[in-house]
Amino acid sequence: MKRIVLLTGAGISAESGLGTFRDEGGLWSQHRIEDVATPEGFARDPALVHGFYNARRAQARWARPNPAHKALGRLQQAWGPETVQIVTQNVDSLHEAGGASRVWHMHGQLDRALCADCGHRWDAPSEMAPDDHCPRCRAPATRPDVVWFGEIPYHMVLIWEMLRDADLFVSIGTSGNVYPAAAFAQDAARTGAQTLELNLERSAISDNFDNTRLGKASDLVPAWVDDLLGG
Ligand code: OAD
Repeated sequence: MKRIVLLTGAGISAESGLGTFRDEGGLWSQHRIEDVATPEGFARDPALVHGFYNARRAQARWARPNPAHKALGRLQQAWGPETVQIVTQNVDSLHEAGGASRVWHMHGQLDRALCADCGHRWDAPSEMAPDDHCPRCRAPATRPDVVWFGEIPYHMVLIWEMLRDADLFVSIGTSGNVYPAAAFAQDAARTGAQTLELNLERSAISDNFDNTRLGKASDLVPAWVDDLLGG
């Protein structure tokens, strides 16, 4: 059986009602990245940053997995998490809600909190605030467990190993603007993987894929999974 690495981005959760970043009206047209998604922005105005993530957390709580998340969950359940490796840039938990048992969240998770002082992690409360204390070391240094610009994404050594061993790399619903994820297709191809992009429109990096299929994730992904499981 082939080893498949899937990379997902905001586009897979768009039909669950969660906004993307760079589409028209997306999050980055409403908020400045420097203000809400950098360590410097958090140091300047932690209340603003907590407010941004509290609102996203509240929105994510109501979101339900769509047919694309469910199809990937079905595929991972059928072939196992060693064969179907799901890497996501998304901080929502819709892959898990859609049936996936193992998901590598390279940009962290909205529903987790991190102590910047001692590194402890725990389930985030619905509202976080600047003067919250770490439950372990008591430092008032709590932050959302999300990766900001200028920080190193999580699980990178493991992800590069998975890409090296992949037979097939599939990118779903991501614009290809943020590295290192934007280089994964080239990383996987270098060691022989076939590459496929499933996206609403051509991305910044479509030329790096062997094949691109355009359409909504809720149509493309279930059809692709049905082909694999049926064939
Ligand atoms: P973007 O908002 O940059 O791109 C979303 C992509 O999904 C676009 O190419 C859309 O065309 C596509 N899309 C939209 N709706 C879709 C649908 N229904 N079906 C399929 N595709 C659809 O989001 P990402 O590429 O995920 O990082 O952004 C990457 C990173 O940039 C995020 O993880 C976040 C952001 O800044 C951090 O915050 C660190």
